[in-house]
Amino acid sequence: MKKITALSLALATLCVAVPASAQFAKPEDAIKYRKSALFVMGQNFGRVAQMAGGKMEFNAKVAAESAAAADSVAKLPWAGFGAGTDKGETKAKAEIWTDKAKFDDLAKKMQAEMSNLAAVAKTGNLENIKLAVNATGGTCKACHDDFRAK
Ligand code: HEC
Repeated sequence: MKKITALSLALATLCVAVPASAQFAKPEDAIKYRKSALFVMGQNFGRVAQMAGGKMEFNAKVAAESAAAADSVAKLPWAGFGAGTDKGETKAKAEIWTDKAKFDDLAKKMQAEMSNLAAVAKTGNLENIKLAVNATGGTCKACHDDFRAK
């Protein structure tokens, strides 16, 4: 009983000491992590966007799979934007940490549009996919304009 109490106490302390935003050993790891996630998301979204734009032959199955992958990965980059990760090999602007509420809001809007795109892509309707790609692309641009360096 004593042992269990000590363990729960240790676990509770651990949970308090390690907030979700600080799950990386080094700032460089967080930067690498978010860039990798954004890259993977971009590759998957880009494939659907190319099909929507007629630059790649439309394949409903590939579009649905790519949109689903982009939707899953869209949840990941944000944990890599914790405090202290503003310097290094990054294009993230300092404004992210001075206007975090706006940044987080734009991240949420993008995820909502990406989820919608994934749902629409499942139906295989190219016209609706085009609309959803445009809506999602607009949310990428909104954040990049303000928070990503050229
Ligand atoms: C809430 C803000 C935000 C949203 C929304 C957003 N991005 Fe970004 N994106 C960034 C920031 C900031 C960086 C720079 C990250 C860095 O260099 O540390 C970035 C970088 C990238 C990169 C470069 C990754 C690399 O290899 O270094 C790609 C690709 C990318 N974003 C694609 C997208 C796409 C596609 C969307 C929309 C589906 C999107 N982003 C939505 C903020 C955002």
